[in-house]
Amino acid sequence: MKKYERLAASMIGLIENGIYGKSDRLPSLRDFATSFKVSLNTARAVYEYLERERYVTAHPQSGFYVADRVIADSPSTEDPSILDPREVGLLRIATAMAATGESRPESVDLGLSYLSRDLIPADLLRQFTDAALRLHTNIAVPLLSSPGYGPLRRQIAMHSVSTGTPIDTEDILMTSGCQESIYLALLAVSPSGSSVAVESPVSFPLHRVILGLRLNPVEIPIAREGGMSLEALEFALDHYPISSVITNGNFHNPTGDLMPTSKKMELTGLLASRGIPLIEDDPSGDLYFASGTTRPSTCISLDRGDNVIYCSSFSKTVAPNLRLGWIVSRRWRDQIEQLIQLANHGMSTIPQIAMALLLEDGFLPRHLRKTRVALRSRVPAAREAILSAFPAGTRVSDPSGGVSLWVTLPEGRSSQDLYKRALAAGILVAPGFLFGESSRHETSFRLNGSVLTAKDAATLGALATEIEPTPAAKLADQ
Ligand SMILES: Cc1ncc(COP(=O)(O)O)c(C=O)c1O
Repeated sequence: MKKYERLAASMIGLIENGIYGKSDRLPSLRDFATSFKVSLNTARAVYEYLERERYVTAHPQSGFYVADRVIADSPSTEDPSILDPREVGLLRIATAMAATGESRPESVDLGLSYLSRDLIPADLLRQFTDAALRLHTNIAVPLLSSPGYGPLRRQIAMHSVSTGTPIDTEDILMTSGCQESIYLALLAVSPSGSSVAVESPVSFPLHRVILGLRLNPVEIPIAREGGMSLEALEFALDHYPISSVITNGNFHNPTGDLMPTSKKMELTGLLASRGIPLIEDDPSGDLYFASGTTRPSTCISLDRGDNVIYCSSFSKTVAPNLRLGWIVSRRWRDQIEQLIQLANHGMSTIPQIAMALLLEDGFLPRHLRKTRVALRSRVPAAREAILSAFPAGTRVSDPSGGVSLWVTLPEGRSSQDLYKRALAAGILVAPGFLFGESSRHETSFRLNGSVLTAKDAATLGALATEIEPTPAAKLADQ
């Protein structure tokens, strides 16, 4: 392949991937020659080639522009309806839906459990990211490997102490999100082939991590009084080779359940006495919104024997795309740090500096207060909208924090059926079959209460009404 053909192929890649969009002006011949360190003649040969292949058109006295035809012919985006959520996860389906443009981007993420886009402090993040970039260039922060940016870890420790969880800056290791924290915790304490006890329903990414590490999930039901059933857990501990227990006790995803402090104490004591590590998955604890409530307790603050590995992130409280999480464990700290250093050569620095600057500015308590006020009105309103739009007999969880609403259709109505109908209407919900091995959750699904509008609830309710119950359920109805 000649040099100009190689360069033309790169330009075609940029055009086909939309980096240069329809009617965009390409760099002038001179700029192109300078950027790629080639002669003007080679640059001209590249552009003539692109013109012959109808990727660009030449406008006399003006330059070269991307041809309209190229965009029309470029490969179409992924069709969300052919993706299997069990294979690819909901994030990829949400991305595909937004990319098709056929859906309404604002309602696409009803199935995900992050804050509604309008609650994300985008302007502040932009402003502080700019400041971080300036600081970064001025003081030449070195490549940051684990444990992460010191001032950010200090701020996280201060925030934790102020909300009732005393942890040391030294014990905090930064990660790329809470999912990675859980992955690292499992790698550190659960050998392949062993079992991991986890609340049921279990969120899809967590289930995937457990299976991906060749571990066996043992699903423990949530008890009526809140939190995983300790009777069921003790039975599982006696009958399975359980190497760790994961709990998402504060506004559990997807049910919104809150484990009472007394139960957290019992759970922490039980596992410490049996020498089984407890992995605490707590990204949503700061999102308590019911009036009169405060930040719920954490197992790590109740633990006396360094038996809890605590995992959290800013994904649920500030913005998921920051990819800033952390993991805390005194006992396994060094082992986990080695695992992080094996996996990466240094962590993304700018978001860490930006977040440290924001926290030093007192951002978090202000932002959380505002977010809680919004959730206090939105989540219960979304719940009411579902109850009034869905068929009689539909049940909805009644959380005091977080954004998830766990909806259960009347007996015999499949949430998989609703998922497909909703997808066709441009709305993504998270069907029950994603939340664990059992078919126990077939009639349930998760919605995002910070996003759901009465209009979307009405659309979904109408679709749910069309679902045929199974013949057995029909008989029972009569
Ligand atoms: C309970 C729970 N833990 C962990 C995660 C993953 O969080 P992150 O986006 O920080 O990786 C989620 C995300 O949905 C979650 O709900």
